[in-house]
Amino acid sequence: MFGEPLVLVERLKGYYVGGFGVVHGVDDVSLTLHEGEGVGLVGESGCGKSTLAQLITGVTGPVLHYQAGTVIVDGYNVYAIPEETLRTEVLCKRLAYIPQAAMDSLNPVKRIRDLLRDVVKERTGRRPTTQEILRTAGEHFESLGLQRSVLHLYPHELSGGMKQRVVVAISTLWNPKILVVDEPTSALDVSSQKLLVRSLLLLRQRGTVKSMLFITHDIPVARQICETLAVMYCGQLVEVGPVEEVLEAPRHPYTQGLLASIASYEPQERRRSRLESIPGRPPDMRNPPPGCRFHPRCSLAQPRCAQHEPPEITLAGKRMVRCWRFGGG
Ligand SMILES: Nc1ncnc2c1ncn2[C@@H]1O[C@H](COP(=O)(O)OP(=O)(O)OP(=O)(O)O)[C@@H](O)[C@H]1O
Ligand SMILES: [Mg+2]
Repeated sequence: MFGEPLVLVERLKGYYVGGFGVVHGVDDVSLTLHEGEGVGLVGESGCGKSTLAQLITGVTGPVLHYQAGTVIVDGYNVYAIPEETLRTEVLCKRLAYIPQAAMDSLNPVKRIRDLLRDVVKERTGRRPTTQEILRTAGEHFESLGLQRSVLHLYPHELSGGMKQRVVVAISTLWNPKILVVDEPTSALDVSSQKLLVRSLLLLRQRGTVKSMLFITHDIPVARQICETLAVMYCGQLVEVGPVEEVLEAPRHPYTQGLLASIASYEPQERRRSRLESIPGRPPDMRNPPPGCRFHPRCSLAQPRCAQHEPPEITLAGKRMVRCWRFGGG
């Protein structure tokens, strides 16, 4: 159903280092984004979602470091190519990355049209005229349901929802094949959220963006936008699969706990008895538990879960689960 892989992440590891010690924010993650595929990445706060997004862009330092593994973006091995190629071929043409809280980082003293001129200059090396910007960006903005007049405004004149949609429009102006977007809806009210979701869906439906990594805390929103759901826990993916199947029949005890904490995904018969959050606390990422990282919080843990790290186990139907209960020797 999907096309070729546009982003191929294999056994990726990356860590932060500083006065706080070493945090292995991403620790052995493999994930593929195919053409035509939207992948929703969910998991508790601090599990490494943003770290994974940043490592996919190949831009690291001074606190975040690449450690091992590969990231191939539309044929470019981002940790093996020169920085200049990464910038010009990957980041300026193929992959757009909207970091968490990007809307707060819009330069407040520039009108949107002038911010766009900077973006185009960065990408092409040539500063376009205001007329050019108004023509090309105007069309793109309109296609995403934003009025052209927004181009003349300063960021502080926009609402939060509008700012976020402007960030999405700016980032996708050059039709990047891949969009990595980190928590774009979390600070928004429900109606702004809907408009943003609509813009993201439009980008996908029109094929402006061919594949998307969508990071969120909001599983229902991920379900609206994405075909695939990836669940992260303590620096690792614990479950990946078609979104409806994962929601219908989660395999990993962590996914089960995560969904059980959201009433609408709890199967009817269990809804009354279990509406609690996952027991225990998220682990200290500086010193993750041995074996399966989830075992101290897992009601199904067996002795080997505390000793040996489970491998990624492939199940039928394009599903992956990292849990000893599903095999692995
Ligand atoms: N700049 C940083 N310096 C040191 N540690 C960091 C830094 N950024 C993140 N971390 C740590 O790395 C781990 C993963 O963090 P990350 O921000 O990737 O999580 P997240 O899943 O995106 O969380 P959230 O849902 O809150 O955005 C956490 O333990 C976090 O404390
Ligand atoms: Mg984050």
